[in-house]
Amino acid sequence: MRRRPLLLAGLGLALAACGALGRPAKGNGLQALAAQRGLTWGSALSLAALDQPELLTLIQHNVGAITPENALKWDATEPEPGRFSFSDADRQLAYAKRNQMTVRGHALVWHRQLPGWLESLEPTPLRQALERHVQHVASHTRGRVISWDVVNEPLDEQGHGLRRSLWLEKLGPDYIADALRWARQADPKARLLINDYGLEGDDPQTARKRVSLLTLIDQLQRDGVPLDGIGLQAHLVAPREDEPRFATLPAFLQQLRQRGLAVEITELDVSDRELPSATALRDGRVAATYGAFLRAVLPEPALKQITTWGLSDRDTWLNGAFPRSDGLPQRPLPYDANLQAKPARSSIAATLQPTEAPR
Ligand code: G3I
Repeated sequence: MRRRPLLLAGLGLALAACGALGRPAKGNGLQALAAQRGLTWGSALSLAALDQPELLTLIQHNVGAITPENALKWDATEPEPGRFSFSDADRQLAYAKRNQMTVRGHALVWHRQLPGWLESLEPTPLRQALERHVQHVASHTRGRVISWDVVNEPLDEQGHGLRRSLWLEKLGPDYIADALRWARQADPKARLLINDYGLEGDDPQTARKRVSLLTLIDQLQRDGVPLDGIGLQAHLVAPREDEPRFATLPAFLQQLRQRGLAVEITELDVSDRELPSATALRDGRVAATYGAFLRAVLPEPALKQITTWGLSDRDTWLNGAFPRSDGLPQRPLPYDANLQAKPARSSIAATLQPTEAPR
């Protein structure tokens, strides 16, 4: 529990309710509950969602920040060399502004969703293309984006240093520092993050990946490279056995804070792909995983924002990427495909509620 006496929490709710915190009252929505802890609750926003009024109503009730799910990625913003296209992104940025929501930029440099023309470039023109892309996109969104996932998933999945991506192979590790510096030049006020997954659990691979990240951070900081925070994607998997504990996560977050870094949970969802078919069992285990994870991260003073990767199961990326063996659609998010609240939503709300009496 963050060090916030109940009285102040109540004041936070009152301010949130009257919109004094800069965002409209959201009643008992997840944003209002998060605001009691000085946090923002966000969601990824797909383009399709903009044409679903009932989903937008749910988003406006629960969310204080959005992340364009795909519209700010390289294949969307620069499909041809030097030809930029922001029509989809600007629709989502305009939606956020109309609804007093902040926006997370995602993602300037990634090894996926790259346009074909990029992959064949030799190192020098590739680095030139990277500089042009980062500076053009971050300039376009300047003042409209509160934070950027500048470099997405730079770490080797197994925890052995940096991912051997197109970027590392052709430009070497300096592509990370370069991208961060160019982003700072283009948008001096945005919070600049490195964003990655597989940093949440208590297993040896996660421990190795955390060491890789801390090693990268320490090198960047020795070199005076601008880095303001770390994004933990938190694509979690509900375990078949007992409830997950995330026992080692608080200490890792403290290591990030001790380096002066903000922490954002950037893509939270809980896959039920390993669970039996019964809906009630799946929903219960998913809810328990949300609760255990939030209990592990909410006390962290460096935590700024929690974003789920969608609000409703209807368009989760998980069904395409990690389908269940029984073919059933997954149920990873707070609301089901019919926009009905699930046990996960209750678990999130209950865990967000301040419980401590004033100290
Ligand atoms: O835009 C094309 C469209 O023109 C085409 O008709 C359609 C059918 O092929 O595909 C569309 O592109 C899809 C794109 O989403 C936009 O909808 C891609 O096929 C599809 O692969 C892509 O999936 C996205 C995925 O990243 C790509 O890796 C998911 O929506 C998105 O949720 C997911 O998000 C990532 C984060 O950015 C980074 N962290 C992991 C997370 C899950 O992979």
